[in-house]
Amino acid sequence: MCGIIGFTGKDQAQQILIEGLARMEYRGYDSAGVALEVAGADGESRLDVIRRVGKVSGLASELESYKESSTCGIGHTRWATHGRPSTANAHPHVSCDGRIAVVHNGIVENFAELREELTAAGHEFRSDTDTEVFAHLIEDAYTTEHDLMAAVRSACARVVGAYGLAVVCADEPGTIAVARKDSPIVIGRGERGSYVASDVIALIDATRDVVVLADDQFAKLTPDGIEYTDAGGNVIEPEVTHVDWDLDMAEKGGYPHFMLKEIHEQPRVVRDTLVGRMTAAGELDIDELGLSLEELNDIDRVYVIACGTSYHAGLVAKNLIEAWARIPTEVEAASEFRYRDPIITPTTLVVAVSQSGETADTLAAIRDARIKGAKVFGITNVVGSPVARESDGVIYTKANKEIAVASTKSFIGQVVSLTLLAMLLGQVKYRLTTKQCRLLFRELGDTAEQIQHIIDTQGPAIAEAAKVCKDAHSALFVGRGMGSAIAYEGALKLKEVSYLHAEAYAAGEMKHGPIALIEPGFPVIAVATKSPTYDKTVSNLMECRARGAAIIVVATEGDEDIKKIADHVIYVPRVRDAFSAITASVPLQLLGREVALLRGCDVDKPRNLAKSVTVE
Ligand code: F6R
Repeated sequence: MCGIIGFTGKDQAQQILIEGLARMEYRGYDSAGVALEVAGADGESRLDVIRRVGKVSGLASELESYKESSTCGIGHTRWATHGRPSTANAHPHVSCDGRIAVVHNGIVENFAELREELTAAGHEFRSDTDTEVFAHLIEDAYTTEHDLMAAVRSACARVVGAYGLAVVCADEPGTIAVARKDSPIVIGRGERGSYVASDVIALIDATRDVVVLADDQFAKLTPDGIEYTDAGGNVIEPEVTHVDWDLDMAEKGGYPHFMLKEIHEQPRVVRDTLVGRMTAAGELDIDELGLSLEELNDIDRVYVIACGTSYHAGLVAKNLIEAWARIPTEVEAASEFRYRDPIITPTTLVVAVSQSGETADTLAAIRDARIKGAKVFGITNVVGSPVARESDGVIYTKANKEIAVASTKSFIGQVVSLTLLAMLLGQVKYRLTTKQCRLLFRELGDTAEQIQHIIDTQGPAIAEAAKVCKDAHSALFVGRGMGSAIAYEGALKLKEVSYLHAEAYAAGEMKHGPIALIEPGFPVIAVATKSPTYDKTVSNLMECRARGAAIIVVATEGDEDIKKIADHVIYVPRVRDAFSAITASVPLQLLGREVALLRGCDVDKPRNLAKSVTVE
């Protein structure tokens, strides 16, 4: 949540901050702001703080009339946690004397007591945010320490919670103090100065060599260099990571929206996620598991923990692990798992699935599961992310950077990775033979072409089907077995990008309540691909049709009969049921986008959402 940027060097900071914030807008976009350090007429430096509710483009327009020269500044794009979106709550937040400004990503858990203490000491708070306590804590510490880094360290020692922090102080021109705990911070040194951001995407124009700051590490950025220290102020030598993807990979590549570009990338994601996963001898190779074959063989219970779309990938995994490895598998929202007392033993495997690798609830659930003795395996898209670092082993989904807030290609990467894991578990449990695994692997690889085929051929059918939903006030998604997992993901995609209320149900549950919703024209979107439960799903659809529903079906190519009950059919190639989530979810992603366009929604940045949910 929230994007942080900072620059100090030889160039004008304003433009660098705005460009960085625009690239990180997927992290939050309800308000944005910058603090720029400028030399006053009297030769003394001051901080100019400019903030605005709304997207970064609004802030950029406002800054067009700002004519001061500044080569050092910090910026922020916000996703509201404490305090509604407003100018007062937008970052940067400043100290009482206005000489210290702070941008923060994370959450200050003890902010209420700190605020009370600071207010009693005479500080005046001007926002409802938790962040503002940092500005006043640093101000207090600075009066005794007279050193920005020392003051930031001492403020951080008082805070319970998570922070990625960048601070400027008018009394130390050209310096940006940075701190991190449980919130991403990357730092880089370019030819023209020093940079900090919460995402490498904001830095890659300037440098490919970045430092991913670790928890409890600090950095002092100046125009001439960067000094890294630990919580005790001792100088440290951090590891430098080379980033080998370029900005083009993160840009739209000619598509009107990132979401569409990312949907089109899915065949590549399938291929890349499978690269190197089968040895020449035909054995599955997932050696990053961090678990021996013996430990894997002992596993007698699996929990998949995740949120949102990643949770839906977990629903697919449950079907596969139970079918192939016969290990009881539960899928739980991470936000629920961590507050329950789940049954965990040393032979429990917890699989944490997270595109961003930094979802707060998923991370907390991982920590909890490890304390209780479970082995934890992460599936994430972000190399070096907290989920990767805190798990015993990790599979990277190879989706590459996902910019659209609604997950598409990362879902496909997760499902493919989980399918590999299920195959491996099936093999170590002697339920799947090597020969079966090879066949499954080959068919899994074939889904890349099948997705491409859907993208190439189903556009017109999807566009027609979308018209049915345009003016609806609600829609139902149904399916059975694997089809119900896909239905859940389809409903989430539709509702988050088009703001059309959508709900998913196991088709057999319709008669137990939801069918009461059906009236003439009500959209029912069904996943009815050829599977053992196909006939039963068709019967459910007939019941909906009898009540006037407008029926859209994702069906298997060659199924002509389905046209008798469906108003619109979107065809996907025939695959084994185990792989139907990979193919059948693609038209539902496209459908969600089409409906969003018809309803005039911002496809890539739906309201109220953020790409990384780093608060609980
Ligand atoms: C929906 C979506 C979200 C995320 C959820 C978890 O399209 O993207 O539901 O799936 O916020 O995020 P990660 O996977 O980063 O943990």
